[in-house]
Amino acid sequence: MKKMKKIIALMLTIFMMASLAACGGNEATDEATDGGDKKVVNIGAAIYQYDDNFMTLYRTEMENYVKSLNESSTDVEYKLTLVDGKNDMATQTEQINSFITQGMDAIILNPVQTSSAKVLVDKCVEANIPVVIINREPDGSVITSSDKVCYVGADAKQSGTYQGEIIRDLPNKGDADGDGVVRYIMIQGDPENSDAQFRTEYSIKALTDAGIEVEELMNQIGNWATDQGQQIAANGLAQFGDKVDVIFCNNDGMAVGASAAIKQAGRTVGKDIYLVGVDAIDQAMDLLNKGELTGTVRNNHIDQSHTAVDVAIKAVNGEAIEDYYWIDYEKVTSSDSATEEETEAEETTEAAA
Ligand code: GAL
Repeated sequence: MKKMKKIIALMLTIFMMASLAACGGNEATDEATDGGDKKVVNIGAAIYQYDDNFMTLYRTEMENYVKSLNESSTDVEYKLTLVDGKNDMATQTEQINSFITQGMDAIILNPVQTSSAKVLVDKCVEANIPVVIINREPDGSVITSSDKVCYVGADAKQSGTYQGEIIRDLPNKGDADGDGVVRYIMIQGDPENSDAQFRTEYSIKALTDAGIEVEELMNQIGNWATDQGQQIAANGLAQFGDKVDVIFCNNDGMAVGASAAIKQAGRTVGKDIYLVGVDAIDQAMDLLNKGELTGTVRNNHIDQSHTAVDVAIKAVNGEAIEDYYWIDYEKVTSSDSATEEETEAEETTEAAA
C-alpha cells in the first residue's frame, strides 16, 4: 500500500512539473504576441471610405502585408491601425487628431478631400510624424512642404490614356454603328478627385490624338459606385439609344453597374457597344472573360499598398524618403474576345474565298 502511495505521489509531482512547464511556455508566446521584447512600430492608416471596392482591396492587402512582415521579423512588431473616414472630412480630421494623440510613429493618409489634405498633413508634420499620402493625389506643394511627406500612387493620366487606347485599338476604333463619329457616355468618379479628372480627359484625348472624331452625349458623376454607374448608364441608353458607341467609366465599380444597364437595354458589348473601366477588380475580370466588358486598366493595389507600408517604415527608421513613388497601370483586354474576333475574321475570309 505504502509503495502504491509513493507511486501516486511521484506521478502527481511529475504531472505538476509538466503543467508548470507548459504554463511558462504560454507566457512566452503571449509576450511575443503583445510585442514582447520586440520594438513596436505603430502605423495609423486613415482610409477615405471603407465602402469603396478598390480601397477595400487596398486596405486588406495592407493588413496582409503587415502580417507577413511581422511573421518574418524577429525584432520589430508592426501594429497597423486602420480607420474608416466614411467619406466625411470632419470624421477624418478627428481620426488624424486621435492618431497624433496616440503617438503613432507614422500615418498613411487616404484623404477624403485632397484640397483639405494640407491641414491634416501640417498637423502631423508639427507633431513630427511622417505622412504617406495614398491613392488621392493632392497638390504638389503639399508633398514638398516637408521631407517627412510623400505620395504613393499611380499616374491617373496613364490610366485614362490606356482606356482610350483600348477603344482606339478596336478594329472599328470604337465606332460601333459605323457612322464616322464615336459617341460616348462618360461616368465620372467624384468631382474633386484627380483620378476622375484625368481619366475623363485622357481617355478621350487618346482618341482625338489618333484623329478619331468624338461626341460626348452625357457626362455625369457616379462617385465610384456601382448603383450610380448603373443608373447613369440606364438613363443615357434610354435617352440616346443606338447613338451610344462607348461607355467610359472612371472605375470598374461603375462599369459593373453600366454592364447591367447595357444588358437591360438589350445591347451587347463587343457587338453594338463598348464598355471600359479601371481597376481590374474581380467582378470586372469576370465580365471581361465573358466578353461583357471591352477592357479595363489594372490599378495595382498590391504594389501600392506594399510600397505605402515600406515607405512608412523607412521614414520611421529615419531614412530619407522620396517625394513620389509611382506604380504603373496596366492595360487589360479580354484575350477571349480577341480570339472570337480573330475567329470571326477567319470565318469571313474563308467564306469569301
Ligand atoms: C481610384 C480607383 C477608384 C476609387 C478611387 C478612390 O484610384 O480607381 O475605384 O477607389 O481611387 O479614390
